[in-house]
Amino acid sequence: MMNIAVLGYGTVGSGVVEIVNTKHAYIQGRSSEADLNVKYILDLRDFPGDPNEDKVTHDFNDILNDNSVRIVAEAMGGTKPAFEFTAKLLEAGKHVVTSNKELVATHGLELLKIAKEHNVNYMFEASVGGGIPLLRPLSYCLAANEIQAINGILNGTTNFILSKMINENLTFEEALEIAQANGYAEADPTADVEGIDACRKICILADLAFGANVDPAKVHAEGITKITLEDVAYANNCGSVIKLVGTAKRLPDGKAYITVSPAIVRSGSQLAAVSDVFNGVLINGDKVGDVFFYGPGAGKLPTASAVVADIIDCANHDEKRKMLGWGPEIDGMVADYREVPNEYYIRLKVENPAEAQQEIRDAFGKIYLLARSGAYNTELAFITAPFTENEVRAKLDALHSVKLKSLIRVADC
Ligand code: HSE
Repeated sequence: MMNIAVLGYGTVGSGVVEIVNTKHAYIQGRSSEADLNVKYILDLRDFPGDPNEDKVTHDFNDILNDNSVRIVAEAMGGTKPAFEFTAKLLEAGKHVVTSNKELVATHGLELLKIAKEHNVNYMFEASVGGGIPLLRPLSYCLAANEIQAINGILNGTTNFILSKMINENLTFEEALEIAQANGYAEADPTADVEGIDACRKICILADLAFGANVDPAKVHAEGITKITLEDVAYANNCGSVIKLVGTAKRLPDGKAYITVSPAIVRSGSQLAAVSDVFNGVLINGDKVGDVFFYGPGAGKLPTASAVVADIIDCANHDEKRKMLGWGPEIDGMVADYREVPNEYYIRLKVENPAEAQQEIRDAFGKIYLLARSGAYNTELAFITAPFTENEVRAKLDALHSVKLKSLIRVADC
């Protein structure tokens, strides 16, 4: 029997316990090493009446000091005390698996080093894309490729909100309320709507794709709070949708463009069809070309399904380390996002539309003008040719009597 412990009995932790308990025989039937038994559940709370209440402990040391526990699933979220607990467990020779993207994005390198030193595994398939098989395919199946670009819809909550805005003409605030009522968005949805959660995820993907640590604090992340129904309508006018896209792209000079921001996604892109709480990730490798990963990026059982797969993998490799990881940060690898050319969607309030249009054409050269029904006659929206954001802002600053209302990059995927 392989004893395991689960840290955190919230959405993901309870899903892990549910899958291990209900699928025990099936899992063991497919892998005799994985005769899994949940011995402890660590949580601050009690769960009277819960079928697993006798397994709940409030004392982390019960797990740390029990040599029969070989694998621990950390589903606490946050970095405190998850980092300290994970480090201690790895140092004690236990495998740790996690869905905690904040911890992996900020301390993954350090924890992988501790895991290596103690000949155990630290695995985190569930930390990006929830239930979508993503990190293993990227690390193993695409190992022969230099990864050129990753573009992903990595946050289910914001994709749900944008889908409501696009399909039902709801404002951001109205859609957020529904997301909260459905339990998708947290009571404090900041990490989701400000792009912080997606930023952690694109950093983990970039770590694995480029083999070097990417610090989320050095990556520009912009959320969806400023997206309006006017922008949604203009995007529709050019056969596109607005999505929150995380991008990690190799540049010709060897640096990497890594960013999270709203993006105009053309309807021909696979990302345009990713709706509601689903995630989708498009990866381009130099040998394979484009591959696309799609599925449930959040939720109890989808996320737990990836955590349990990691548990099974650890059970099957109890004496052997899996090769999954990356090297230290490379100074200057992350390019200044304002210096990387993109096409841009721009919406302006202008005083004199005819004059402004001429000035804009003089400044930007060829532009693609957009229309929407009900537009004010003092409104101008257009798509530019590729420029850096610094160039775009300098050109806009030089225009007379215009007010910038929206500036959104056009995704090149
Ligand atoms: N809040 C996250 C999301 C949960 O909405 O995608 C899954 O990481």
